[in-house]
Parts: sequence; C-alpha cells; structure tokens
Amino acid sequence: MNENKASHPTTIIIFGATGDLAKRKLFPAFYNLYIDGRMPKGFNILALGRADNTNEYFKNYIKENLENFSRKKITSEDWAGFQAHITYFQNQLDEESSYKNLHQKLEEFDKIYGTRGNRLFYLSIGPNFVSTISNHIKNTSLASDAKKDRIIIEKPFGHDKQSAMELNSLLAETFEEEQIYRIDHYLGKETVQNILAFRFGNSIFEPLWDHKHIESVQITVAEEVGVETRGAFYEQTGALKDMIQNHLLQILCMVAMEPPASLESGEIRDRKVDVLKSIRRISSDQVDHYAVRGQYGKGIVNGVEAKGYRQEDGIAEDSNTETFAAVKFYLDNERWQDVPFYVRTGKKMKEKHSYITIQFKPLPHSTFSESSQHLSANRLIINIQPLMDIRLQFMAKKPGLSLVLKPVEMIFDNFACQEDTPEAYETLLLDALLGDLTLFMRSDQVEEAWDVVKTIQEAWETTKDSSFPNYEAGSWGPKESIALVERQGHNWV
Ligand SMILES: NC(=O)c1ccc[n+]([C@@H]2O[C@H](COP(=O)([O-])OP(=O)(O)OC[C@H]3O[C@@H](n4cnc5c(N)ncnc54)[C@H](OP(=O)(O)O)[C@@H]3O)[C@@H](O)[C@H]2O)c1
Repeated sequence: MNENKASHPTTIIIFGATGDLAKRKLFPAFYNLYIDGRMPKGFNILALGRADNTNEYFKNYIKENLENFSRKKITSEDWAGFQAHITYFQNQLDEESSYKNLHQKLEEFDKIYGTRGNRLFYLSIGPNFVSTISNHIKNTSLASDAKKDRIIIEKPFGHDKQSAMELNSLLAETFEEEQIYRIDHYLGKETVQNILAFRFGNSIFEPLWDHKHIESVQITVAEEVGVETRGAFYEQTGALKDMIQNHLLQILCMVAMEPPASLESGEIRDRKVDVLKSIRRISSDQVDHYAVRGQYGKGIVNGVEAKGYRQEDGIAEDSNTETFAAVKFYLDNERWQDVPFYVRTGKKMKEKHSYITIQFKPLPHSTFSESSQHLSANRLIINIQPLMDIRLQFMAKKPGLSLVLKPVEMIFDNFACQEDTPEAYETLLLDALLGDLTLFMRSDQVEEAWDVVKTIQEAWETTKDSSFPNYEAGSWGPKESIALVERQGHNWV
C-alpha cells in the first residue's frame, strides 16, 4: 500500500527484541528494507531486553540470525551500515525507571536528528505485558506527539470480545486510534494484497462476483507443522482463536468486501467492517451445525511418523483444545445472500497449503453430456502459500475426434513475475514507518471479528469433545468437516 517516499527520522523501540519474532521476522525485515533503501534517512533501532547484554554481543546474535532468516544475502558492507543503527538497551518492563532511562535515550537521538523524531514502539512481547508497557509509556510521556508516535501490537489482540474491548480502551488512554497498528501478518502477504488488485483492477470478474454467479467460497489455511515448542501457548488458544478469528476472517473480508471508493485506509477498513457486521451470527444451539472442531492424533506426515497432539510437550493428556476448525458462514447482504463461505484451518494436515476457492455456479442448462457436468471447472483458485498464483479452471475440448470436455487451467504465477517477493513483515513495517494504516486492523474490526466467533468459542470452551483425537496427523481433518460441506452438495477442493 505504501508509496516510495522518504519518511521522517524515526527511532524504532522493540520490546522483546531478544525473542523469537524479532530474530526471525523483525530484524530480517528491517535489514531488507535497509538494503532496498526504504528505511528513513535517519533511523535507530533500540532493542530492549532484560539481560545485561553488550551491544557487540547482541549485534552478533542478530547477524547470526540474519544469516538464517534474511531474504537477501548478508554482505559485510550492508551489515556494517545496518548494524550502526542498532543499540541494545537493557530494560525491565515493569520498572518506571527503565522508561525514564528510555526517555533520555530518545532525547539523545532527537539531538542527533536535529528534530523530534518519530517513535515507533513495537510490542514484540506476550499479550499479558501490553497493559504494563502502555501504562508506563503514558506515565513517562514517551509517546507525547500524536502525529509522530505509533505503536504496533502483535496478535493475539485479546482472547475474546470483552478483553479486546478492554485492551482497546486501555490503548486509547495513551494513543489515538490513528497511532495504533494492530498487525495481522496475513494482510501483508503479496497474494492476499493481490486479491484487491485482482477484484477491483479488472472488469472481467467483478460483474460475476455475487450470489447470482458464485455457488460457494472456500478458504483453507492448512499447516503441516504441529505446535512445535509452543504447546503451552497453544493449549490456551486453539485453531478458532489462533487462526479463524483473525487470518481467515481477514481473508474472507478481502474476498467479500464491496468496492472501496478509494484506496484511502479508512475507506478500505470501513468496507471490511461492513463484511464482518454482515456475517450472520451463529446461535448457541446451532454451533454443531455450522462448526466442526478437531484434534490430531498420531499419524504420518510427509512419510514420517508424527505424534498426536496430546503427546506433544506442554499438552494435557485430556486436552480439549482444537487443532482444527471448520466453519460455514453466511453473509446477510445483497451481494452474498445464500452463498456459503466455508473456512477451515488445521495443524498437522496433509500438506502446507493456504488457498481460496471461488466456485462459480453451473449453467442452468448444459449443452454437453451429463458426464461432463461432474468435471471440476468454473472455478477460480487463489493460492496464498506456498504456491503464489491465481488459477482459472474452466472446461475445454479434449483434443481428438470426439467433442468431449476436460477441465483445463490458466495460471498467473506471482513467482514468475517477481522472484524476489518481499516478506509480509517488510510490507507491514514499511507501511507503519510511513503511517499507512490500510493493512492494519482497526479497533472495530477486531471487536467485530471476536463477535463473529463468540458463540462457537463459548460452546467449545464449555463443552468437552469426547471424540478427540478425531483426525490422524497427515490427513485433511475430521470426517465431520467433509460432512459440513457435503450436506449442501459441495466438496472441499
Ligand atoms: N514468534 C512468532 O512467530 C509470532 C508470530 C505471530 C505473533 N507473535 C506474537 O509476537 C509476540 C512476541 O512473540 P515471540 O515469539 O517473539 O515471544 P517470545 O520469544 O516468547 O518472547 C519475547 C520476549 O519477551 C520477553 N519476556 C518473556 N517473558 C518475560 C517476562 N516474564 N518478563 C519480561 N519479559 C519477558 C523476553 O525478552 P527478555 O528476556 O530479553 O526481556 C523475550 O525475548 C507475542 O505476542 C506473540 O503472540 C509471534
């Protein structure tokens, strides 16, 4: 969404700079932006952590991680330039004196800049620390300039609607809404942004983009990995809160939104909120009809034996946490009346694959033989990852003497166009530096998204699923998820 324009001198203050996200995503993103000449002319990264590390030790640690996680190669020249902008800064999250020291440090940078620089606070830290940090920032006036200071908050943003509302109110005591960047890294992915370009940059599909022409929409985000080392975190979360409430609903918004009048961030975010508001709420007694949960047992993933969820580290032997969720949503608006939107996500699935399928309606009457009707076609597939392409599947004549149909594909391959695709975090961090909120979630978006899943969440948290584990690692999830779509004569693609 950003344009190539220089931004104001900026200090980036990373809380949790020694953590996993910082090493795998944030520093590589800043490094790549630096190489591309997209960082502000004057910038400093203040890396905050509890340990008494020296600058040299911390920079070596960052360099080692860049070797593993940076998109672009590390050269000694680029690294020498980049590392000069990093300062390790010891701080204790809950001690006011740490924030006073931080204040002094920021003023030192301002003297070097010759102006009051922008301040970008990145909370790369567990959600339980957000209120402590936000309160200290407020009490020590670290973010006193609403035009220049911004805060980035990682997911999860709350754990239900009520907690999200409380967090929004808390942040509102220190920051204006325009200063708050709630990140959902799915929205920074090239292929997800491309949905807007594809829908609103072409005249071919938009007239077909409604209930008169589309039979169903499917969104799948399948992961091959399990919970890895994050068992304790995942036990408190599950697939509905970890994936559907944020990533899948955000993708659904991109597919279903009305054309925005402009690319202005408020306009696009308004259209997305409209979609979330129009999603029909599932009543408590209908949860089992519209939603399916699953938990993986042992199985084979990619030819290798895999443990069941309950055998992973940090997981209770009788865990009730879902590692798979599928939901059928309806949107009550003119465009999408009666079109089912099926969304599903799971861990330890057969393969890693995120994609959207738009299934167009069959012709009311087919000229061709009945057998041709069963062939898969009239379908648009938008692959998000690891494939990054758009495929239009349609019917064509099978070469030969008889007039027989077969499904064929036209493919637009993002990789072929641009091999060196920026990572989602690069896009999002650049937007935050430039003050572009389009790809970040507004308070009402987050609250509406929690509202959409509220009854499902309540039902799943208060009732135990005695069928768990109910799908094998390395499969496509529980059989009930197949039944969810088959009831209406559909199939997961
Ligand atoms: N990792 C990912 O891939 C990922 C993806 C999406 C969202 N997120 C979100 O991003 C945030 C950061 O995730 P992460 O994986 O980087 O977390 P992490 O590695 O577990 O922790 C980040 C930092 O928090 C500090 N910390 C931990 N416990 C603390 C305590 N009791 N008191 C004070 N500081 C403490 C540690 O820094 P010091 O010990 O140096 O102070 C640690 O380096 C979380 O909100 C997470 O949900 C992460």
